[in-house]
Amino acid sequence: MAQNRTFTMLKPDAVANGHIGAILEKINASGFRIVGLKMTQLTKADAEAFYAVHAERPFYGELVAYMTEGPIVAAILEKDNAVEDFRTLIGATNPADAAEGTIRKMYAESISANAVHGSDSDENAAIEAAFHFAGKENF
Ligand code: RTP
Ligand code: MG
Repeated sequence: MAQNRTFTMLKPDAVANGHIGAILEKINASGFRIVGLKMTQLTKADAEAFYAVHAERPFYGELVAYMTEGPIVAAILEKDNAVEDFRTLIGATNPADAAEGTIRKMYAESISANAVHGSDSDENAAIEAAFHFAGKENF
């Protein structure tokens, strides 16, 4: 498959627990090239908009509160088959179900504080990258 892009966030638990370096190293070692990178903190409005697709879900309030509790690291990643391969690398949403060696198995605390986000489609990857990065920050 052609080179394409996905979007990730290292979530507040991963940043607070000191895992930025280890997770970025694992991402690089797995063949992804970092083409955008920043540390930032989501406002409540940012988190509500980013996860608007989950607005009707019972965990939405908890998710928005959690995603705004501390800084995150946002990144754009490039690789062949980027979206699917990154979802494989991060593992299942609930770290209890995540495969050995996945980022969530290694670094997540719980189903809410699950260390990383990964886009679920090429279309959403482009939308999410544009949400976080200006054109001059996207290489
Ligand atoms: P993400 O979008 O962050 O990559 O996660 P995902 O696709 O694996 O999971 P998704 O269904 O999109 O859920 C988004 C985030 O909501 C939190 N969540 N909490 N308490 C719960 O039952 C629950 N379920 C989901 C997680 O932080 C999940 O990553
Ligand atoms: Mg998702």
